[in-house]
Amino acid sequence: MASRTRSSIRFTVLLVIWMAVITQSMAPVECRRRKAHDHVRRGGEKKTICRAHTASVEDFGAVGDGVTSNTKAFHAAMANLSQYSASGGATLVVPAGRWLTGPFNLTSHFTLFLHRDAVILASQDLNEWPIIDPLPSYGRGRDLPGGRYTNFIHGSNLTDVVITGDNGTIDGQGEIWWQKFKNKELNYTRGYLVELMFSDQIVISNLTFVNSTSWNIHPVYSSNIIVSGVTILAKIPSPNTDGINPDSCSNVRIEDCYIVSGDDCIAIKSGWDEYGISFGMPSQHIIIRRLTCISPTSAVIALGSEMSGGIQDVRAEDIIAINSESGVRIKTSPGRGGFVKDIFVRRMNLYTMKWVFWMTGHYGDHPDDKFDPKATPVINGISYSDVVAENVTMAGNLLGIEAAPFTGICISNVTVDMSKSKKLPWNCSDIQGVSSSVSPTPCALLPDQGSSAKPCPFPTDELPIDYVEFNECSY
Ligand SMILES: *[C@@H]1O[C@H](CO)[C@@H](O)[C@H](O)[C@H]1NC(C)=O
Ligand SMILES: *[C@@H]1O[C@H](CO)[C@@H](O)[C@H](O)[C@H]1NC(C)=O
Ligand SMILES: *[C@@H]1O[C@H](CO)[C@@H](O)[C@H](O)[C@H]1NC(C)=O
Ligand SMILES: *[C@@H]1O[C@H](CO)[C@@H](O)[C@H](O)[C@H]1NC(C)=O
Ligand SMILES: *[C@@H]1O[C@H](CO)[C@@H](O)[C@H](O)[C@H]1NC(C)=O
Ligand SMILES: *[C@@H]1O[C@H](CO)[C@@H](O)[C@H](O)[C@H]1NC(C)=O
Ligand SMILES: *[C@@H]1O[C@H](CO)[C@@H](O)[C@H](O)[C@H]1NC(C)=O
Ligand SMILES: *[C@@H]1O[C@H](CO)[C@@H](O)[C@H](O)[C@H]1NC(C)=O
Ligand SMILES: *[C@@H]1O[C@H](CO)[C@@H](O)[C@H](O)[C@H]1NC(C)=O
Ligand SMILES: *[C@@H]1O[C@H](CO)[C@@H](O)[C@H](O)[C@H]1NC(C)=O
Repeated sequence: MASRTRSSIRFTVLLVIWMAVITQSMAPVECRRRKAHDHVRRGGEKKTICRAHTASVEDFGAVGDGVTSNTKAFHAAMANLSQYSASGGATLVVPAGRWLTGPFNLTSHFTLFLHRDAVILASQDLNEWPIIDPLPSYGRGRDLPGGRYTNFIHGSNLTDVVITGDNGTIDGQGEIWWQKFKNKELNYTRGYLVELMFSDQIVISNLTFVNSTSWNIHPVYSSNIIVSGVTILAKIPSPNTDGINPDSCSNVRIEDCYIVSGDDCIAIKSGWDEYGISFGMPSQHIIIRRLTCISPTSAVIALGSEMSGGIQDVRAEDIIAINSESGVRIKTSPGRGGFVKDIFVRRMNLYTMKWVFWMTGHYGDHPDDKFDPKATPVINGISYSDVVAENVTMAGNLLGIEAAPFTGICISNVTVDMSKSKKLPWNCSDIQGVSSSVSPTPCALLPDQGSSAKPCPFPTDELPIDYVEFNECSY
């Protein structure tokens, strides 16, 4: 079996031209209004990053039988391949097979490539998961005070990391973590399936992630990130198995993803209360497109609840969701501080949903009692347009904060077909905004501007992350 599969490691992987991003991100904002292909042409020099070195986990003694622990092999592989970071980079190939391993760390200028029949299985032995420091913008672990279990696949302070494959699988085998979490048997916060922190130039593509311990993909304090062609499946219900959570990250592009989640499909975050405020690193310039989501207990796209470093310039479009609790959800609370502004969502098709639009200004949930209740979040400039939703319990539940109403809300060209249980379609308080061509008629706080009103805005410029192209690179 192994020899047959090894000889079949003949694949093509697509890698990124980062030159365009790097050049463009230094250009002033006014110069960004160019077509992507124009820019790439004008950028001149195309730089394709192909790795100089390639090895298979089998070279380090790994056995793909689903039973043998390969922790030593993965650690040896990473130690070996990290020496090439400065000399052409390296690819670690995971061939067909079921590869059980404890958590491991990535390195710079590195590609992890999974064969289509490769499954990396996360160890269920908690002793293999060391405790690491909490994130500085959270001040503590998310589940529990104190430190947290390491992430399954972790990277810190890296540049140019690609996690990809021919739709191979990374399986968190999360059931034991979920049970221990529910039974309050854990002493530390669960690790995430993939976390990259303080990193730049990250691609996660063409893979399937199943049954994560907690959040699936968590880039934090990072920039220039692409998540593309990823399938994420978690048992429903399973606690906090969010799909993709950009957290204090800039220039993010999430596209062509299919997510079935026990929590939010995508949750954009930026730190928690006083810790997030003092860390002060926003999530910004985020594109989400062609997302299909099933999130029965949570949101298709959530903003918050941890948003204390601010969230701005999010552009989401072409979203399909079925059987989800809410479409777009903004969650915040006094004490959070920060802001959520310039959020644009258009072209959503939703089927079976409790709330299409949900905003909550009293989410609660604080890291400790040291938060400042006067740190009021600013929510401003939220635009939703071209939405069709069927079998919905409530079109909008929009509840701001009395001392700081949510402002600049715009909803246009939205048709919500209510389910038979005839409830109040809209419930609004402490918000300000406008609407046009919305059915059923929104609440009085979103006065109808008439069918000839301008539709809600959606940015027409392109972001630097839009310019990044994939280039073919074969081994
Ligand atoms: C993912 O796979 C598809 C189909 O093979 C390919 O067209 C695409 O470029 C790949 N994307 C990345 C980022 O590897
Ligand atoms: C690890 O790297 C060295 C080069 O430093 C190389 O000679 C060796 O073969 C590698 N080990 C394995 C198991 O591939
Ligand atoms: C991974 O990196 C973290 C720090 O970023 C470190 O604490 C941990 O020991 C490393 N784990 C391994 C297996 O090298
Ligand atoms: C990683 O980067 C952060 C932010 O730049 C820095 O504070 C930290 O010391 C770096 N860690 C390492 C191990 O280099
Ligand atoms: C990848 O695998 C998942 C899980 O088997 C499947 O649902 C998905 O359709 C596959 N994606 C592609 C592009 O083949
Ligand atoms: C996820 O885990 C559950 C057990 O908790 C299992 O029944 C299911 O098959 C797993 N899903 C996948 C896609 O492996
Ligand atoms: C948590 O701590 C208690 C008390 O020290 C210990 O008995 C228990 O085994 C720990 N739980 C885990 C999952 O490590
Ligand atoms: C409509 O939504 C309800 C939940 O509100 C669900 O139970 C029902 O199955 C949905 N109907 C259809 C036809 O999907
Ligand atoms: C309204 O939204 C629908 C559904 O997304 C779309 O087909 C239609 O073109 C939109 N109408 C206008 C005037 O933009
Ligand atoms: C409507 O909003 C008020 C707060 O303004 C809340 O108390 C009430 O429960 C909401 N009603 C529904 C049906 O959600």
